[in-house]
Amino acid sequence: MTTDVHYGHIFHLKGSPTVTEAAAALVSVPDGALVVGSDGRVLFAGERAAVPAEYASATVHDQRGGYLLPGFVDTHIHFPQTYAGDSYGGGQLLEWLTNCIFPSESSYAEPEFAQEAAVEFTRRRIAAGTTAAMVFGSAFPHAQDALFSQTQKAGLRIVSGRGIQTRGPASAEPLITSEEDAIRLTREEIEKWHAADTGDVNTALLHVAIVPRFSLAVTTETLRNLGELYDEFRDRGVYVHTHLNENNRPGTGEVDSTKREYQVDTYLDTYDGKFLPGSQVGGKSLLGPRTILAHCVHCQDAELARMAETGASIAHCPVSQLFLGSGTMPWKRTIASGVNVAAGTDFGGGDEWLVPRVLGDAFKQHISEDGAAGVSLHPAELLFLGTLGGARALDMEDRFGNFDEGKEADFVVVQPAGALKGLLRNAVRAGDAGLARDQTLFALLMGLRESSIAEVYVRGRRVVA
Ligand code: GUN
Ligand code: ZN
Repeated sequence: MTTDVHYGHIFHLKGSPTVTEAAAALVSVPDGALVVGSDGRVLFAGERAAVPAEYASATVHDQRGGYLLPGFVDTHIHFPQTYAGDSYGGGQLLEWLTNCIFPSESSYAEPEFAQEAAVEFTRRRIAAGTTAAMVFGSAFPHAQDALFSQTQKAGLRIVSGRGIQTRGPASAEPLITSEEDAIRLTREEIEKWHAADTGDVNTALLHVAIVPRFSLAVTTETLRNLGELYDEFRDRGVYVHTHLNENNRPGTGEVDSTKREYQVDTYLDTYDGKFLPGSQVGGKSLLGPRTILAHCVHCQDAELARMAETGASIAHCPVSQLFLGSGTMPWKRTIASGVNVAAGTDFGGGDEWLVPRVLGDAFKQHISEDGAAGVSLHPAELLFLGTLGGARALDMEDRFGNFDEGKEADFVVVQPAGALKGLLRNAVRAGDAGLARDQTLFALLMGLRESSIAEVYVRGRRVVA
């Protein structure tokens, strides 16, 4: 590879801000240049006129009129739901799972179908500019093989693991394994795919997660065994991914059912080794900086504090919350706990593949929270959720998430098409330069659709379907 320079309007968050510090870290360079070295790392990001002379011979990619953004990070998306978006289940989470999702995921038992889904799932991520993702995987190892293979072929980043279920309703039967197989298959997946591309977790694009579907889909024995397994692999950079506090329908919803069945004080306790009645310790914790908990709409303060303490992150999925009637994650209270929050599409619980569509719904949800809880999220905070916060949730902020010099160059080129073109041309109403910048970024994130994602790069290399 040669040294390349991409011209365009750069937006990114420099340094390592928290979400509340994002506005101060926002960088906007309308006539910008992003120089990427032959090793795929950022050599320079700044004014086009200030590109150091040593890069004068770099190959020019003139994207002016367009925007250069860090690649989008989707911290929660379901591979076995590739064809399950917009499924009508006649109810909220648990009915939808039983009536739509478990049957849909069962069709991945057929290898050809799983292969076709892996191709489509990869195509959709590229079309959406999703350069890295935490992918909730299929129960079937051949489907996971197809997912990792296709992802590697395309050159995208992924963390994924087979969805583990050891109990459930009749419709989930094809997805359920014995206790022994749950552990054996997870171990085999780690051994086969974790850092399989480079052999080094610090340079790999492929990573494996331990993925118990949620506490209602596993037993205390599974949780104990997974705690042991995680203890064995934690130091090798293996991840944990699951769902937490999504549906709080009184009595029969996910949160109440979990607390009733496990007799625990908090839902989080079940993932924290405290899954025995009275939240007594029964095994090792699954929490840590490589743990991502999806949804977290109905957390107690103690749960938020514990996630912050352990370095776990929340995958915030407002598109899904709307689709499944799961409610609104309280923004201010959640952020005040110090826990890292990033965006997740939750496709097919959400019906959008594009991370900026999640950011748009986050804005609409949180400005609509009651009274003093309501907040107008700053466009830089939205950008954080979709880029740097995601890299932090994946515990790979040192590698990507912004254009700081030395980072691996993951980025999307946005060439405004259709309605977005006119929107951006007329987005600025402010005389004040700072507000004008914010208005441009806001219109870009809110109005972006797949049709405007022109090119996608991971580690400086163009990704194509
Ligand atoms: N909880 C357990 N499984 C699922 C799932 O597939 N989607 C969502 N949104 N929540 C879940
Ligand atoms: Zn989910």
